[in-house]
Amino acid sequence: MNKITIAVDGHSSTGKSTLAKQLAKKLHFIYVDTGAMYRAVTYFALENKLFENQKLNKEKLVAQLNQLEIDFQLNTNTNESQIHLNSTNVENKIRKMQVSQHVSIIAQLPEVRHKLVEIQQEMGKYGGIVMDGRDIGTVVFPGAELKLFMTASAKTRAQRRFEELQTKGEEITYKEVYDNLIERDEIDSNRAHSPLKKAEDAVLIDNSNLSLEEQFEMIKALVKCRTKK
Ligand code: DC
Repeated sequence: MNKITIAVDGHSSTGKSTLAKQLAKKLHFIYVDTGAMYRAVTYFALENKLFENQKLNKEKLVAQLNQLEIDFQLNTNTNESQIHLNSTNVENKIRKMQVSQHVSIIAQLPEVRHKLVEIQQEMGKYGGIVMDGRDIGTVVFPGAELKLFMTASAKTRAQRRFEELQTKGEEITYKEVYDNLIERDEIDSNRAHSPLKKAEDAVLIDNSNLSLEEQFEMIKALVKCRTKK
């Protein structure tokens, strides 16, 4: 099979990562979760006390950006690639609500986006990759052979995220999750740099009422017709 590039963009908590990860597995492609990269920078900023209340010391962060090394390494126990920040596995730490509450501020910074997009383009330069995020089909790989744009109703997405956080033992209400999701949608879609928007040639998938298997069926057909034998 041809090593095509598959860009998976869309709103938060649409199950993009689960879908993209499993799709990559089925195709024997590399999977890259770019949201994890923005989360890792956010985690770094929080750890280094670069936020005071919600206000970020942008100059300090930008000055320290070149000290940040972000990569993915295979966890041999789970057989999944996990994100590392300066050689430390931060996969679980970046999923915490505190990181979710600050990540949109970090993701608005052009300096951060520039650095991360460069790493992402390097990772995908040979194709054979499924990359999920917000700007993959529009900015990172505008020439991707297959672009998917995932969405679902806000209620469905908040409920999924709430259940996910609950199973991880986070003490959080449904309303907090819902409000955070709406706020992130708003910031991600309206920011000046690389806002979340569907690429013109992306296929829209609203999975509010679709199972993972049903989504795979749709995508399998799309992959087949975009892959030159
Ligand atoms: O996919 P996620 O929810 O883990 O992403 C975390 C945040 O990072 C999200 O609020 C939007 C931002 N993001 C982005 O701006 N560009 C990307 N390519 C991926 C994520």
